[in-house]
Amino acid sequence: MEVIQNYSLRSLNTFGLEAKAYMYAEINSIEELRELLNASAYKSARKMILGGGSNILFADDFDGLLIRNCIQHVRKIAEDNQSVLIEVGAGMNWHEFVLHTIKEGYPGLENLSLIPGCVGAAPIQNIGAYGVEMKSTFHQLSAVDLATAETKIFNKEECHFGYRDSIFKQEAKNKYAIVSVTFRFDKIAGLNTTYGAIEEQLKKMNVITATIKDVSDAVIAIRRSKLPDPLVIGNAGSFFKNPEIENLTFIKLQENFPEIVGHPSAHGKTKLAAGWLIEKCGWKGKRIGNVGMHEKQALVLVNYGNATGQELITHAERVRDSVAERFGVVLEMEVNVVSK
Ligand code: FAD
Ligand code: EPU
Repeated sequence: MEVIQNYSLRSLNTFGLEAKAYMYAEINSIEELRELLNASAYKSARKMILGGGSNILFADDFDGLLIRNCIQHVRKIAEDNQSVLIEVGAGMNWHEFVLHTIKEGYPGLENLSLIPGCVGAAPIQNIGAYGVEMKSTFHQLSAVDLATAETKIFNKEECHFGYRDSIFKQEAKNKYAIVSVTFRFDKIAGLNTTYGAIEEQLKKMNVITATIKDVSDAVIAIRRSKLPDPLVIGNAGSFFKNPEIENLTFIKLQENFPEIVGHPSAHGKTKLAAGWLIEKCGWKGKRIGNVGMHEKQALVLVNYGNATGQELITHAERVRDSVAERFGVVLEMEVNVVSK
């Protein structure tokens, strides 16, 4: 396997940022990964794993060894009348895997259709959309320790999944390469069509009794109608998380802003729609130089062409500060920023 110096990452991140990795390698198997990690030349190098580059912002060049995980397989591990366990290589494209589960008739991931990126990154922020999070079908994952090259299995509890969060964004950040993820599909699981515009979209599609394929098609149609395609305009999806605040704070905000959008969260708090807060501060569709918040979705920071990572961060800080000033709510970044 080849290690390339000063490798351009422009086509490997969905913001389309021109950044370089001092050293870059692609691995197609665990053996190749171990070989790389055990090579004395790279022992002391800073290391990071790259998937599809759809949730990453390169603020600088990456001054270490960037390893692109290309391990791809789909294996049935076990099956009984009720459920099926499927193990997937971390380098497989997420949406292709979702389409595979739909073809096989395994329910559970249809609401997560069309999310960019690779299977190995899905547990990192416990990807979610349209009322479903990855953790609901997650069984376990296999990861290689970047310091020792040893393999470790993480079960669901050990991953500490939360809203756009896991142990891999906290104490285990950049310590492991996830090499495969195993999902458990419950064959008799019901559909989840209550979120957002899914029901409305199914009606438009003249669907009376929906299948998992119908729900997937509806989610795909909704996503295409509002989220910018990274091939056309650089972005990494939602730039910030939707903030969770105390219910009392929400009630006070409602007194001043009766139309503020918030929903009960899983922790007995209120989850605010960050897109609403950003839109109300006047940022939606407003362009400053090469950057701005998208015209159809104010939570999506976009690169109109030749922005640098620093320009994007400066804009995100401007937006965050104005939301904090107006609403007293501090937005937290969802996207992973890579700096020197
Ligand atoms: P990358 O961007 O390559 O990496 C993200 C992070 O994970 C980095 O810190 C990286 O080091 C780490 N990482 C990646 N692979 C591994 C691995 N194998 N082992 C260890 N660490 C690893 N996300 C949602 O949750 N819901 C959405 O609805 C959604 N919609 C999106 C829409 C658009 C248009 C875009 C551009 C992004 C969207 N995202 C969404 C964000 C993104 O698609 C997900 O976070 C996705 O899981 C990132 O996958 P990736 O392979 O591109 O990860
Ligand atoms: N809204 C506005 N203006 C906007 C955008 C949103 O007022 O410009 C308000 C509207 O009231 C809307 C509500 O916010 O009804 C929610 O908007 P939307 O359904 O588009 O979802 P979101 O909360 O902005 C979240 C996820 C998305 C995920 C969608 C669908 C986060 C940070 N983002 O966005 O995930 O696809 O829900 O479930 O939780 C991502 O993580 O990258 C991502 C795209």
